[in-house]
Amino acid sequence: MAKVTIQKLKEMKQKGEKISMVTAYDYAQAVLVEKSGIEIILVGDSLSMTMLGNDGTVPLTTDEMVAHIKPVVKGAPTPMIVGDMVFGSYNESISQAIRSANRLMKEGGCDVIKLEGGRPEVVSAIVEAGIPVQGHIGLTPQTASMLGGFKVQGKSLEAAQKIVDEAKALEDAGAFSIVVECVPEELGRAITEAVSIPIIGIGAGRYTDGQVLVFHDMLGLFDKFLPKFVKQYAQIGDEIVKALGEYKEEVRSGSFPEDKHTFGGLSRDDLKDLRK
Ligand code: KIV
Repeated sequence: MAKVTIQKLKEMKQKGEKISMVTAYDYAQAVLVEKSGIEIILVGDSLSMTMLGNDGTVPLTTDEMVAHIKPVVKGAPTPMIVGDMVFGSYNESISQAIRSANRLMKEGGCDVIKLEGGRPEVVSAIVEAGIPVQGHIGLTPQTASMLGGFKVQGKSLEAAQKIVDEAKALEDAGAFSIVVECVPEELGRAITEAVSIPIIGIGAGRYTDGQVLVFHDMLGLFDKFLPKFVKQYAQIGDEIVKALGEYKEEVRSGSFPEDKHTFGGLSRDDLKDLRK
């Protein structure tokens, strides 16, 4: 299959073909996503919780993000790879933002970057520096405390208008796509119709141009919390615990390893002197 490009995503929106996006954070996950045919991989800052065990996204560093982008790029040549800008890597100045975006592209090797918030001046500077940008508005986890916590955004008409305006401003600033998180379904639809770039929803209802989910959430690999908008397509975590338990039992009982898992070549008698 051909590499997924910005142009391909634009055409998908124009034809009404839904776009799928999922997070992945290491080589093994990336290989699985590659096989699935999903169009976009987000190396999301959710890796701070799912892979590194932090309580939120804020502690994640650009060094850690780069280290996770690299193996994903190796494992998934076809999907578009989005590198997520981490908290504190683009809120000081435009030049800091460009420097951080450069690192994700040059050192990580991702195709495009994503950043949270309706900050068109930052987006346009990064785009002018030659780096494609995906926006992220609605609920923005890095600054959730400023938004009153992990809550549905845009519930009043005024708040909804503000999010639509942010989407239009990001499009004008040159963003090629926007992730919209945790808004009422009709607002997800209004944003999708208000701009010509692909809108990828997470908890934004059925009418966006595509959907994104966190790998660990949708596959049952993370059980600390599960947002309402997640559908669990599998319970891989339970399968893994079951397999590990069977392994432990077989080691204890001696039924693993079996003859087929062992190497011959020497007899017990050959080695009798070594045991002395
Ligand atoms: O980091 C992430 O997983 C994200 C998604 C929630 C869109 O930003």
